[in-house]
Amino acid sequence: MKSFDVVVIGGGPGGYIATIRAAQLGLATACIDEARGAEGRPALGGVCTNAGCIPSKALLQSSENFEQAGHHFAEHGVMVQGLQLDLAQMLRRKDKVVKASNDGIAYLFKKNKVSFFHGRGSFGNSSSEIVVGNETLTAKNVIIATGSNPRALPSADFDEKLILSNAGALAMTEVPKRLGVIGAGVIGLEMGSVWRRLGSAVTILEALPTFLGAADEQIAKEAAKVFAKQGLAMEFGVAISAVKTTKKGVSIQYTAADKSAKTLECERLIVAIGRVANTAGLNAEGVGLQLERGFIAVDEDCRSNLAGVWAIGDAVRGPMLAHKAEEEGVAVAERIAGQQPHVNLNTIPWVIYTAPEIAWVGKTEQQLKAEGVEYRAGTFPFSANARARALGDTTGMVKMLADAKTDAILGVHIIGPYASELIAEAVVAMEFGAAAEDIGMICHAHPSLSEAMKDAALAVDKRALNI
Ligand code: FAD
Ligand code: NAI
Repeated sequence: MKSFDVVVIGGGPGGYIATIRAAQLGLATACIDEARGAEGRPALGGVCTNAGCIPSKALLQSSENFEQAGHHFAEHGVMVQGLQLDLAQMLRRKDKVVKASNDGIAYLFKKNKVSFFHGRGSFGNSSSEIVVGNETLTAKNVIIATGSNPRALPSADFDEKLILSNAGALAMTEVPKRLGVIGAGVIGLEMGSVWRRLGSAVTILEALPTFLGAADEQIAKEAAKVFAKQGLAMEFGVAISAVKTTKKGVSIQYTAADKSAKTLECERLIVAIGRVANTAGLNAEGVGLQLERGFIAVDEDCRSNLAGVWAIGDAVRGPMLAHKAEEEGVAVAERIAGQQPHVNLNTIPWVIYTAPEIAWVGKTEQQLKAEGVEYRAGTFPFSANARARALGDTTGMVKMLADAKTDAILGVHIIGPYASELIAEAVVAMEFGAAAEDIGMICHAHPSLSEAMKDAALAVDKRALNI
């Protein structure tokens, strides 16, 4: 029996980062992960690396390049003739990007002298005993980082040929002429964008009557307008009644918002209606690990109900985001080592990697209204930003919300070019308790998109300089 200070179950962004941090802190650490890549090799990095963040961003970039070459280069005077799509090469490139990340994590494990076990880990006779293959490990601390799985429609399981989860959506070897997507959430929008750019006619069916409820309403409205203009068809307030596979593809029957009965015929269907925590195979019941609405129940420091057992990432409450999982991984490792870390769930940024990108941190305007908080809002459009004009990418805006009395930044919402990068300034500002005025007083490089952040901050006090 091998003994460790820490055994981490799951090698996704939560698990592998927790593993590395625990090892850095001098704890004898093992990580167990069951994911397999080509030829059964270990594929460290979890959903994020293998079928989530990384491959989706690789395809978003490749498909955006295709779209730019086909529709926007000419405006720059760059003429392309005989443009062709080599989808097989696009997918090979994506797989290469994924493998580089898998290998990078394996390298980091070696560098940090981590013991890695490839297989499924589950609790043995007690919560300090973990069984993996023929081995039994004992652990002073166990960190569960088993992530999440896609939620299927009750009436239509994933076959990954016609009815696709995120995994199938990232691996289609032909561009479907007509692609259906159920769920206008993050995956629906990102994957819908990829395949639309590559030539599919995409229809997204969404149950809720409103679009992107978690985002600021003004930003969501702008996004809906832009996506419609790009040709993403979206229907809201629908109720799916049946999904059937046919010889030609998939037939989806649904009731539209106006109560009429409708059918959508498509060659392929992506179902992206949220994800469920993955706790199967852990023997959670056997050791009395408490679950709450399918998630592992934890306190704010990620402690489960069992002494020495912690859980992080998608398997527990909170946003299902890689960087949230990572923050929790670091915090738990540090807490095990006797430190006092803290994860601030209020300053976790959200990014949707569509074009334009959408990113936000903190409160939305509708949340502030509902909470009765007095606030001031400043917005600045990218059309008035010189760098955006030079890029030829002027859609969208930066919007800053600040406390009416203290001027403390309460939320920042961006739709526009490189919103994913720009949001970092807002996160830093909020973590340091900055006021909108502070951002307005800081020198931002010219010409840069970041000047839109400064101008939005100045706009809070009605003194934007460039509009
Ligand atoms: P996971 O990444 O799910 O990793 C869990 C690992 O544990 C897996 O390798 C699994 O095989 C392994 N495992 C499970 N059970 C066991 C067991 N019993 N024994 C051994 N191993 C086990 N988030 C972002 O922040 N940015 C993005 O751009 C982004 N894009 C996404 C795109 C898509 C298409 C999807 C589906 C998700 C995306 N996400 C994104 C979400 C992100 O992938 C997750 O939040 C993140 O992967 C969660 O990390 P985790 O470590 O909790 O779990
Ligand atoms: P989601 O929660 O973002 O969106 C699901 C959508 O499906 C919602 O709008 C919901 O109202 C709708 N829906 C639910 N049931 C439905 C039904 N029966 N019929 C029609 N619509 C229905 O979930 P999604 O897109 O599956 O992504 C899962 C999670 O993965 C995200 O919440 C996010 O945490 C993570 N992710 C993050 C990304 C990023 O950070 N850029 C990218 C992709 C995923």
